[in-house]
Amino acid sequence: MTYSGGGNFVGNVIWARKRGKDNSAKFLSRNHEYLLLFAKDINLLRFNRLEMPDQTRFAYKNPDNDLRGDYRTLGLWARGSQGGSRYSFTTKTGLFLSAREWLVGEETMFELDQQDKLIINGDKVYRKMFLTEYKGDIPETIWDDASNAANAADEIKSLFNYQVFDTAKPTPYISKLLKIATLKDSIILDFFSGSATTAHAVMKLNAEDGGNRKYILVQLPAPIDPKKDTVAYDFIKNELKAEPTIAEIGKERIRRAGEKIKAEMTEKDSQQLSLLEDKSLKANLDIGFKVFKLDETNFTQWDEETTDPAGALLRSVQSIKPNRTSEDALYEILLKYGIDLTLPVTELEIDSRKVFSLAANYLLVCLEKNLSLSTIEEIAKLKPQRVVFYDDAFKDDVVKLNAEQTLRKFGVEDVRVI
Ligand SMILES: C[S@@+](CC[C@H](N)C(=O)[O-])C[C@H]1O[C@@H](n2cnc3c(N)ncnc32)[C@H](O)[C@@H]1O
Repeated sequence: MTYSGGGNFVGNVIWARKRGKDNSAKFLSRNHEYLLLFAKDINLLRFNRLEMPDQTRFAYKNPDNDLRGDYRTLGLWARGSQGGSRYSFTTKTGLFLSAREWLVGEETMFELDQQDKLIINGDKVYRKMFLTEYKGDIPETIWDDASNAANAADEIKSLFNYQVFDTAKPTPYISKLLKIATLKDSIILDFFSGSATTAHAVMKLNAEDGGNRKYILVQLPAPIDPKKDTVAYDFIKNELKAEPTIAEIGKERIRRAGEKIKAEMTEKDSQQLSLLEDKSLKANLDIGFKVFKLDETNFTQWDEETTDPAGALLRSVQSIKPNRTSEDALYEILLKYGIDLTLPVTELEIDSRKVFSLAANYLLVCLEKNLSLSTIEEIAKLKPQRVVFYDDAFKDDVVKLNAEQTLRKFGVEDVRVI
């Protein structure tokens, strides 16, 4: 059954947002904030367990040198209202345990006894829980270990040297969410980027665990009020020399946070450093990002479906709108093809013409005009699966007519014009 709306509610987390307390409050110092968790489809939701906190790890010991390693002990008798099942039990060594409420059923008790996991101390019965059996910590609804607003402000200050933003979230808070709800290769979408804490937290976590999570942040170019947010306004005007918008702050945060994380990684101890240099962690740490602005199409008309490549070449004349660059056009083509926008784009020079190559020449896009047949042939020799040209890219009608033949000769089937 697929739930919608309220059916996908996961829980309400209480986050201890305030570091100190507000002694000027009338009745109570409000120290917390709520985090409402919803799944897109709760049936598909998978949460990860969290790492064991240090204080829990300390509880694992091995006083009797059990070959199975460190363990902690858990009492097996039910207390007060805990409930349980009532039975008496005789261990394999013949020890009789009188009837009482146990936290585990009789079958489990039998198995624990068979596996030498019972510790009997007078009337008290415990089980050994080995570290190797530990499957991670279940996330709880009260978060007092996810940093706080004051630390978030410090994070911003240490990156920018100015308090350009004072309502950001701290990265450990976002990081905790990422640890619970993402995989190492997840794509994280934040529709309200603000100061781009999400990007910072994603890069940091990737640096920590070698993940390759990606992020998509959305932010309106919300103007910064020079009177209300003077520090941010002056910073952008004077230091960045950019438009005073929240989006510009976010972009600069990503740049600075990425550089900082890289610098911190290289500071790691020599053993880890050599590991990073040799292996995947450092190589994988990707701090690059691309910025796209929402706009109308770059083309006067887009040829959506091409089932007939030959016909496509001859179809109606298209043109790019004025004031749009070939990069603008390229990325729109990628979007329309459903090609990952994060794929590296290589610029080739073929016959002195600029050609964009994607995914090892899987797609070649040439957005130049006045193309000759020899240029077409050089492009065809790279054996792309798909090629895109401007409709009016060809030197003359003869070239246009022969282009399709030439491309087909080299096995290029998917030819599109825009
Ligand atoms: C409170 S900030 C997010 C703070 C962020 N978590 C951080 O740590 O910096 C929310 C942002 O969402 C943007 N925003 C608000 N309404 C929006 C909307 N309808 N569409 C897109 N962005 C919006 C605002 O410009 C604001 O910068």
